[in-house]
Amino acid sequence: MGWKTIDELDLAGKRVLVRVDVNVPIEAGRVTDATRIERILPTVTDIAEKGGRVILLAHFDRPKGKVVPEMSLKQILPALEDKLGRRVAFAEDCVGETAQKAVDALGDGEVLLLENTRFHAGEEANDPDFAEKLAHLGDAYVNDAFSAAHRAHASTEALARLLPAAAGRLMAEELSALERALGSPDRPVVAVVGGAKVSTKLDLLSNLVEKVDTLVIGGGMANTFLAAQGLDVGKSLCEHDLADTARQIAQKAADKGCTILLPRDVVVAREFKAGAESEVVKAEDTPADAMILDAGPDSVAHVEMALENAKTLVWNGPLGAFEIEPFDRGTVTAAKKAAKLTQAGKLVSVAGGGDTVAALNAAGVANDFSYVSTAGGAFLEWMEGKVLPGVKALGA
Ligand code: 3PG
Ligand code: MG
Repeated sequence: MGWKTIDELDLAGKRVLVRVDVNVPIEAGRVTDATRIERILPTVTDIAEKGGRVILLAHFDRPKGKVVPEMSLKQILPALEDKLGRRVAFAEDCVGETAQKAVDALGDGEVLLLENTRFHAGEEANDPDFAEKLAHLGDAYVNDAFSAAHRAHASTEALARLLPAAAGRLMAEELSALERALGSPDRPVVAVVGGAKVSTKLDLLSNLVEKVDTLVIGGGMANTFLAAQGLDVGKSLCEHDLADTARQIAQKAADKGCTILLPRDVVVAREFKAGAESEVVKAEDTPADAMILDAGPDSVAHVEMALENAKTLVWNGPLGAFEIEPFDRGTVTAAKKAAKLTQAGKLVSVAGGGDTVAALNAAGVANDFSYVSTAGGAFLEWMEGKVLPGVKALGA
């Protein structure tokens, strides 16, 4: 791996621009899930303790190049100070005089958070002039934002080429976990891919059938595959126009020796609401007026068996409509099995991508997986086999 770590940078007394991802959920001005903040602490603390002057660069939400007060990073300042256990200075702009003054006032071992980089159009445009302005504020650059590494933006891409650059602790950890899961994994490898739509995960499925031994397809997207086999899926969420594509993916899997596991039995209901009356039927017996909302017990038992035979698991997306009970059951049962095998030292389990973390948290097993990524889109793009521009730019 070509990138440097922060151990290879000269940090004492240096102004270190640290790109982090603190794009956390906020309700009524308060952070409701501080996971991303917690995960950057090792890097920030480490640089500060080595006498570096930590200048945090981050985006928040999608202000599209304009100042949007509701998207100010100032909102996350209390949570950041709280988790870090240190005072954090704040500058109302990430470049120019305001930023410069705040940087100049910073002592060794102190931490400064600069305002949302996306308040400037140059950020998303990966504009070299904007990157120069950022570079002007620091002596070194550390990227700890794996979850934003799929964006070629000034603070994630161009800036890395303007200063001595290194991967932060979280970035390094994410990359090595992903390498362990799909780069050079212990076999057999099982991938669990769920979620509503096939259309958002075509590249992902297509790449995975080349790399894994068993691919479990769950959630709404499984319905598209079932329908492509000629099954009537009733009123289920289904992308009928992707039937050909689903068949092509199934064919590719067969050619590459990858076994696809689709639900054999399913939990169906007439209404999409918590506690709705439901029944378990064979997938081919889905009533015309019902929709599939979860994998049935027989299907889940097959997933469990696949996990027992596997050495590595990579998981993205729920197996059913896990956000409403009782349709969380398939996801929760399979996740608990994976957690148990992991804790017994029998399985390396890596999970990531938006809903996945929420599902594992709901199952109470996020801490029992080998690794849970902080990334949503970046995790997916990495699983698609894409080169992430933020990672590439760190390459020596
Ligand atoms: C995320 O929340 O997935 C990252 O912070 C990237 O945000 P974006 O999707 O707005 O680029
Ligand atoms: Mg996003």
